[in-house]
Amino acid sequence: MTPATPLPATPATTGTAGTAPTRVVVLLSGAGSTFAALLEASRAADSPYEIVGVLADKPAAGLDIARDAGIPTAVVALRDFPDRAAWDEALAAAVAAHDPELVVLAGFMRLVGCPLLDAYGGRIVNTHPALLPSFPGAHGVRDALAHGVKITGATIIEVDAGVDTGRILAQVAVPVLEDDTEDTLHERIKAAEQPLLVDVVRTLAAR
Ligand code: GAR
Repeated sequence: MTPATPLPATPATTGTAGTAPTRVVVLLSGAGSTFAALLEASRAADSPYEIVGVLADKPAAGLDIARDAGIPTAVVALRDFPDRAAWDEALAAAVAAHDPELVVLAGFMRLVGCPLLDAYGGRIVNTHPALLPSFPGAHGVRDALAHGVKITGATIIEVDAGVDTGRILAQVAVPVLEDDTEDTLHERIKAAEQPLLVDVVRTLAAR
């Protein structure tokens, strides 16, 4: 009897170039609609990237989307570490465990520290719901609305050590409507932001 020969492992391919897809780790803190858009796009036959891990700084709803898709997840919560420096090290180690080539912050509401920047500098992308350099920080939509701007939008940046100060990679404008609330405006921003982020990630991954 001929012993069964195991099939060689077939690496995933981009379908066109025949190379393995770029490994992407996503960091999030919230509902995960941005991650869901990235995940959906990664399922295209010609996707140049695959999402290999999803990390959060708390038990965020976005992690359920990853679990349902069979993607490994982890929570690296600040409260579980003696100080911020220890958390920064743990976060960098959790990212590195997936050996990514690109890290995407998709609604991750914390600054990333030196360990992650040192390891992945120039390969960390963030999306922000305002037209930077206006309205950086945790409340980009609320701050733009309170300021009375008539046009806001979303910005994709390369992450540096500052608060939303990194190199701008792409932007999209979204008009503010007369009766907008923070929620209605944020939903319309997300609708424009997510295809833009997908486009940037695909472009970076294809390089
Ligand atoms: C996105 O609009 C993203 O730009 C924003 O959080 C939202 C995440 O939504 N990020 C920031 O405000 C970062 N300063 P989601 O949880 O539905 O993906």
